[in-house]
Amino acid sequence: MAEKQNTVTITDNRSGKKVDIPIQHGTHGSGVFDVRKMYSELGMFTYDPGFVSTATCSSYITYIDGDEGILLYRGYPIEQLAEKSSYIEVCYLLLNGHLPSAAQLETFRCNITCHTMVHEGMRRFYSGFRHDAHPMAFMLGCVGAMSSFYHDSTDVTNPRHREISAHRLIAKMPTLAADSYRYSMGLPFNFPKNKLDYSDNFLYMMFALPTDDYEVNPVHAKALRTILILHADHEQNASTSSVRLASSSGANPFASVCAGIASLWGPAHGGANEAVIKTLEEIGEAKNIPKFVARAKDKDDPYRLMGFGHRIYKNFDPRATLIRDACHELLNDLGEQQDPLFEIALELERIALEDDYFKERKLYPNVDFYSGIILRAMGIPINMFTVVFAMARTVGWIAQWMEMMDDPEQRIGRPRQLYVGPATRDYVPIDERE
Ligand code: SDX
Repeated sequence: MAEKQNTVTITDNRSGKKVDIPIQHGTHGSGVFDVRKMYSELGMFTYDPGFVSTATCSSYITYIDGDEGILLYRGYPIEQLAEKSSYIEVCYLLLNGHLPSAAQLETFRCNITCHTMVHEGMRRFYSGFRHDAHPMAFMLGCVGAMSSFYHDSTDVTNPRHREISAHRLIAKMPTLAADSYRYSMGLPFNFPKNKLDYSDNFLYMMFALPTDDYEVNPVHAKALRTILILHADHEQNASTSSVRLASSSGANPFASVCAGIASLWGPAHGGANEAVIKTLEEIGEAKNIPKFVARAKDKDDPYRLMGFGHRIYKNFDPRATLIRDACHELLNDLGEQQDPLFEIALELERIALEDDYFKERKLYPNVDFYSGIILRAMGIPINMFTVVFAMARTVGWIAQWMEMMDDPEQRIGRPRQLYVGPATRDYVPIDERE
């Protein structure tokens, strides 16, 4: 009787056949029906386009409670990490599962810092790109090309290779990201400086000019640190799932992270931060907001309010709240009391949250709603917003990849389908066709 307690019984009423499906519970959140034997026992697949009700893995890394607006990295609330930690420490936490000692953190920081340069041959890749291409196209090309430069660490069955590739990716993403901006602007590349921390180094490589000394603005660096921490990981989102599926075949981490970059680029995912600013610029003035809200509500109009809604959060995305607060702080510190786009964003949020359409669907601002305003205030151009997101999320992709590679349940991902195409039919010679 006991084994029945932790099961759910599925009965196929057509045949009366029953199968007991085991129930598994984790540390927090929803449990799962373990349907792995369903096909062999009932000859049926589960059907779940978009994986709305499907857990594709078990994970120790990140927990999200969408109803309560909770986000934990390895059990630590995102609010505490954003306030007290550093991005490099969060990277260590996500990769290793615990907060580092001072010595562990210093060793990890050195490992990352000492791998921030890229092979000079990689920088020559940029000359093949159109300068006016979207920087995410540069990132896709160059991160994929890392497979051709760092093939001495692509044996994914070797834990040491996995660790070296992880350090290389986390360390070199800011350099490649800054290079993509510099190339698009026709500016010379900057070399990373080991004396600078992760955020400062990125801003230096982005904006330092050979004609003048460059001092990183500490207000910008603090805001960027917050952005990086808040974007580091987010459970099994589309881009992370893309990295897991690509690498489940044994593909190397550089190629697999490319799958994540590709997925993140979409406006429904990481591309939303760029789309939000375009929306706010299109709105132009607060008096125009109702027109845009009406369009977002119109069933016959595919228009969506970018930066609103989330598959999981049916409450405030805790990251959006933290980024909105960081926006206020940054603009005050910069003495820019008024950023017209920020004012419009605050008014848009107020109007939307009072509107039944959004309330009924539990559509709240997500991480992308305010992040663009912070990046814009730092002088980072709009087409670089998703690049910054990719840079921040690389550690999440890698942590999830390393977890999957150590997971005894890991096997190549191979979803099935409900076939609704033509029934079996014979080939018709061309002279017998209508
Ligand atoms: C990220 O998964 C992650 O964790 C992602 C992320 C991460 O850190 O990795 O959090 C980062 O990608 C954040 C999301 C950024 N995207 C956007 O801001 C784009 C705008 N939002 C959406 O398109 C949408 O809300 C999604 C894609 C985020 C979620 O889509 P779902 O879960 O598939 O929801 P849905 O499309 O089924 O919408 C449910 C209803 C629909 O209305 P009905 O058919 O029920 O009448 O809500 C409506 C939708 O039309 N709706 C919106 C809306 N989002 C959903 N209506 C207007 N504006 C919107 N933004």
